[in-house]
Amino acid sequence: MSDNTEKKAGLRVLFPTLIYEAWYPGFSAQEDELVSYVETLRDKDEEGRKISEQQYPSGYTSYFTNSTLFNDSKLEELVKFFHQCAQNYARDHHWDTTNYQPVINALFANINPKHSFHPEHLHPYSHISGVFYVKSDAKSPAIGFKDPRMARWMMPPAADGNRPENSFHAKLAPEPGKLFLFPSWLEHGVAQNQSDRERISMSFNFEMRQKPAT
Ligand SMILES: [Fe+2]
Repeated sequence: MSDNTEKKAGLRVLFPTLIYEAWYPGFSAQEDELVSYVETLRDKDEEGRKISEQQYPSGYTSYFTNSTLFNDSKLEELVKFFHQCAQNYARDHHWDTTNYQPVINALFANINPKHSFHPEHLHPYSHISGVFYVKSDAKSPAIGFKDPRMARWMMPPAADGNRPENSFHAKLAPEPGKLFLFPSWLEHGVAQNQSDRERISMSFNFEMRQKPAT
């Protein structure tokens, strides 16, 4: 006689998209310093402001002029935290962390005043991308992730769209000191900022690089 007690009908989850969230432990002590770090960066970056006017209307990004901020010793502790989170993310995916390690290859800052927005995009040439919030408030726009499985858009059944498994655009709210990591291939964007307060974020990329031979 066969034993069916272990055979339970149910769902399997396939092709999940994993988003990691974490809070920078040192944030409250460094909050003012980090806000003025990014504002000073913008104030001194004439070329970056000029390019932002063309490429990033109504906002500022150091993407075009200062995208290797991870080399700045003032950000050492924060970058260490990013590395730890990327390591956790790789481990939680069960990637090969014996022979490969996440290495940061881009870090840039963004300021979005009122009416500024960030069109949908992805981050080529990396495996893990992330965003860290330096300044935001309850009215700041969320980051919106788009379901990459285009076939789902063909004829979606009527469903409770508030459930994550039925959504096509998932929104995650910013919070000062908070970080999100996501796969670099995942399309995302930020809607127009309707708040009178600036929204300040830092974006970064990691690639899984082979560990040097010891
Ligand atoms: Fe992005």
